[in-house]
Amino acid sequence: MKIIRSIKVMQDYSGAEKKKGKKIGFVPTMGALHQGHLSLIKRAREENNSVVVSIFVNPAQFGPKEDFKKYPRDLQKDALLCKKNGVDVIFYPSAKAMYPPEYKTHVNVQDLSSVLCGKSRPGHFQGVATVVAKLFNIVGPTRAYFGQKDAQQATIINRMALDLNLPVKVRVLPTIREKDGLALSSRNLYLSQEERKEAVVLSEALKLARKLIRAGEKKSAAIIAAMRKLISSGRNAKIDYISIVDAKTLKPVPNISGKCLIALAVWIGKTRLIDNTYAS
Ligand code: PAF
Repeated sequence: MKIIRSIKVMQDYSGAEKKKGKKIGFVPTMGALHQGHLSLIKRAREENNSVVVSIFVNPAQFGPKEDFKKYPRDLQKDALLCKKNGVDVIFYPSAKAMYPPEYKTHVNVQDLSSVLCGKSRPGHFQGVATVVAKLFNIVGPTRAYFGQKDAQQATIINRMALDLNLPVKVRVLPTIREKDGLALSSRNLYLSQEERKEAVVLSEALKLARKLIRAGEKKSAAIIAAMRKLISSGRNAKIDYISIVDAKTLKPVPNISGKCLIALAVWIGKTRLIDNTYAS
């Protein structure tokens, strides 16, 4: 397994692979790899000849008061996991190489970026779309793999790839969960023991929503109210948002009809966690 730090060397590697007719599977990450990332790597390994994982804690997607500085970084541990899981290349660029001082270009996927998490994290999805567009141009993947846990991110990247005619197939794979239902996230590392126990309330709220829908409840407001009540009973939980939206447009829907996304963000102490489920 190679660790490539230079953009030019990465582009040359991909160019040479593709010249030989090889398919490149790409898993963009910010490191602190967990089973969720490994499930993406596994699928990329199965479907492609060459697997590239990028590890880049992208400053452009963090707000000034967010956790950029404390975001977990452990290249050695991540590299070991990548090697064990059959990764061919880790692309590990510096922030200076990705965003030199004269940098001016940003990708903004309108409407989809300003709702849900975009409301409480202004600029976040512009940072994500910009870095993913750059990474696609550098790595030149045949297929790129993202987790359903970041449903809004996946929707935005899909839209961007279509709108900009990027020659990459975007694959979105199911959320991987702990035994008790908590969605895997690098940010789970921030939780204290007590908070970790309480964090299960996000997936419990989604379970409750699915149960209500199965029982015939169609009204979004009623489902959201029940979810709110459940989450508010926790000591450390503070709701950022709970929304039921159209899965494609991310616009709120008053009733469950067609494919809907039920998404929520909840602060557990000082850690903001997200989760979601589809319903129809
Ligand atoms: O999901 C993530 O880890 C990041 O948002 C991504 C896609 C690697 C872009 O920095």
